[in-house]
Amino acid sequence: MHRLRVAEEALRLKRETVLEVNNLSTCFFTRYGRVQAVNGVSFSIAAGETLGLVGESGSGKTVTALSLVGLVDPPGRIYSGEVLLNGRNLLDLNKKQLREIRGQEIAFVFQDPLTSLNPVLSIGTQLTETITAHEKETKDGARLRAADLLGRVGLPDPEKLLLRYPFQLSGGMRQRVMIAMALALHPRILIADEPTTALDVTVQAQILTEMRRLKKEFDTAILLITHDLGVVAELANRVAVMYAGSIVETGSIIDIFENPGHPYTQALLRSVPRLSQNSYYLEPVKGQPPSMLNLPDYCAFLPRCPQARSVCYEGKPQMRTLSGNHLAACYCAGARRQEAYLA
Ligand SMILES: Nc1ncnc2c1ncn2[C@@H]1O[C@H](COP(=O)(O)OP(=O)(O)OP(=O)(O)O)[C@@H](O)[C@H]1O
Ligand SMILES: [Mg+2]
Repeated sequence: MHRLRVAEEALRLKRETVLEVNNLSTCFFTRYGRVQAVNGVSFSIAAGETLGLVGESGSGKTVTALSLVGLVDPPGRIYSGEVLLNGRNLLDLNKKQLREIRGQEIAFVFQDPLTSLNPVLSIGTQLTETITAHEKETKDGARLRAADLLGRVGLPDPEKLLLRYPFQLSGGMRQRVMIAMALALHPRILIADEPTTALDVTVQAQILTEMRRLKKEFDTAILLITHDLGVVAELANRVAVMYAGSIVETGSIIDIFENPGHPYTQALLRSVPRLSQNSYYLEPVKGQPPSMLNLPDYCAFLPRCPQARSVCYEGKPQMRTLSGNHLAACYCAGARRQEAYLA
């Protein structure tokens, strides 16, 4: 498997960048103050590549995804950065232009997809319209294909489902309809926020297979947001680890899983249940994440960090290269990271 991933990494270098995010910051103006949900986030995704975005609840993953496609509503506001899709800055587009791009080049699956489906059109109408907009299909052909897609994402009785409206489905079913839509769209990029979290393992495996197909057949770039590091290991080529609104480490799947540099990534990996000497072993990340209302001007992970030193109070650490494309925002990452992780 490793040789395969290394080969993929080499391929990536030759592939065209589909999405490039530079210094993106988004905050919410609440009555308690300014919630700094996303704080100077940068990453890029190439065609056919999957970037896994991981981090604890509240770290800013969903707000990052919403910011990319212009779906942050007041009191939220994007106040800096650029989101380049094939070189065009999406943050400069108006609502109508963004809607067009969302229906053509970008597909997304969000945690609560009620808002992203049209409430007055049946599932069948929405799916067949998407199919006929992208493929030469007759109406009947598109309907057959729509039913096939619903079956592929593990939805029972696809024929009956085509007649239903979004409000008649459960949240999990709506989410799978969104995945079917994304498959029909053959998008340049798919943004999937926890696409498999609420699903049982069989359906989860089916959806991962379909996402893999999308990537292979249509060279779709995927931003995969998930708590589930197992899913990341299955599907992602690279990983970005988010903590308190910032990306604190990025690297290939091997860099992150085998040689994590940031103490937070190390703690996150230790919190995945493992079989050790015939018993389950799990160590939750100790302490609480910081309030996004008052982020410190030093490393936000410091109060929870087992490797903290006095240098860690000296301003927010910037991302620096550990090796190749492996970067971490930690003063101490590097020399001591191996011994700390293995301890
Ligand atoms: N509409 C809003 N108003 C105020 N604060 C918000 C709003 N939406 C999100 N936030 C805040 O932004 C921060 C990031 O939230 P986000 O939903 O992006 O986290 P997440 O990483 O997706 O978490 P989870 O894993 O639970 O989905 C949180 O502190 C959250 O409270
Ligand atoms: Mg979220």
